[in-house]
Amino acid sequence: MKLQGRRVLLGISGGIAAYKTPQLLRALLKEGAEVRVVMTAAAQRFVTPYTLEVLSRHPVHTEMFVASQEFPVLHVGLAQWAELVVLAPATAHLLARLACGLADDLLTTLMLGCPAPVLAAPSMEERMLDHPLTQEHLRRLEGLGYQWAEPATGELASGAFGRGRMAEPEEIAGQVVRHFAVAGDLQGVKVLVSAGPTVEDLDPVRFIGNRSSGKMGYALATQAQRRGAQVWLISGPTALTPPAGVEFRGVRSTLEMQGVLEELFPQMDAAILAAAVADYRPAQVAPQKLKRGTGKLVIELVENPDLSAELGRRKQRHQVLIGFAMETEEGLARAREKRRRKNCDLMVLNNLREEGAGFGVDTNIVTLIEGQGAEQALPKMSKLQVADRILDWLRQRRLAQG
Ligand SMILES: Cc1cc2nc3c(=O)[nH]c(=O)nc-3n(C[C@H](O)[C@H](O)[C@H](O)COP(=O)(O)O)c2cc1C
Repeated sequence: MKLQGRRVLLGISGGIAAYKTPQLLRALLKEGAEVRVVMTAAAQRFVTPYTLEVLSRHPVHTEMFVASQEFPVLHVGLAQWAELVVLAPATAHLLARLACGLADDLLTTLMLGCPAPVLAAPSMEERMLDHPLTQEHLRRLEGLGYQWAEPATGELASGAFGRGRMAEPEEIAGQVVRHFAVAGDLQGVKVLVSAGPTVEDLDPVRFIGNRSSGKMGYALATQAQRRGAQVWLISGPTALTPPAGVEFRGVRSTLEMQGVLEELFPQMDAAILAAAVADYRPAQVAPQKLKRGTGKLVIELVENPDLSAELGRRKQRHQVLIGFAMETEEGLARAREKRRRKNCDLMVLNNLREEGAGFGVDTNIVTLIEGQGAEQALPKMSKLQVADRILDWLRQRRLAQG
């Protein structure tokens, strides 16, 4: 029983997938979890509180202004009781209310005062999911540390086929198990993560950059911090919001990034270098904006220092160094060679050639390359999941080091 004694608050809102929540509840109970259920008014149109009451053997909470035997003030008591909140299904309406900090029923009120981590399973018609407001609410909640049971593609309430179907109950239960399995397993470990592109200025308005979105590095910082690590995130310019609770240092150029990395690295237990660092920079930065009219412009570039190789040289015995390789040809051979040359303990090879991998997207396909030929090709998964697999490896390595 992997959830023995774990206190899970199951919040159910009014989506069609609410009919699957008895199944989710049973899966959590089967693993030994203690579950309390809170339902919105709309949720009760899809599944009766009585069903969930019988299954959970506890009262199901639907009202704010009532007495409870277990908690003197219900919304405060439940908020403090929970070790994890699971919102399934999470309707567009619930996500909007949470993102705006509304407190107009028991569930939203307790969520405002609840320090526990949240796993939410959004579920709605594809158009509702894709609406810019829903997307903004998802981003905002993610910034607060919400984890997602990602909606799947399949048949929707309308009968249409599309994205927005709630993740299956077994899958959500599996994520709950995983959450508790890794919670705190990197407690006290100091991890430095580099992310995003570096940009090299040509003149006061132009620069040479690359297509890195920073998503992989930010996912690593998010998950490492969730798992209890102390995290420093050094990032080039991106459109992303740094996860709450990490030490953030924003930089522009490769040389700037180098300065911060070398300043912080000696105090770290591990460094994960996910930034796409520019290999070259302009030999000179023009003090004024470069003008047209010369017919041709030749820009001289000089090589930047190799940041991961430099950290590899400085690495102490107890430190773990993880690099990223992005190759457009001969990926495996080059990544193996890079790992050796840069003295990295692990090299993560990005598979640029397949759909759903690399720059800008939320998923990635990577191969983890260790020494002595140990290699693991991972299937396509979300960048958060890839981050977790890399952090699993880091944890194992630290255990092996003793
Ligand atoms: C048949 C039916 C199915 C619905 N399914 C969903 C759904 O899957 N997701 C969603 O966001 N809203 C769905 N709705 C709309 C919500 O029930 C409605 O927005 C409600 O206000 C949600 O309230 P709550 O978030 O407080 O539970 C559905 C409505 C009906 C009538």
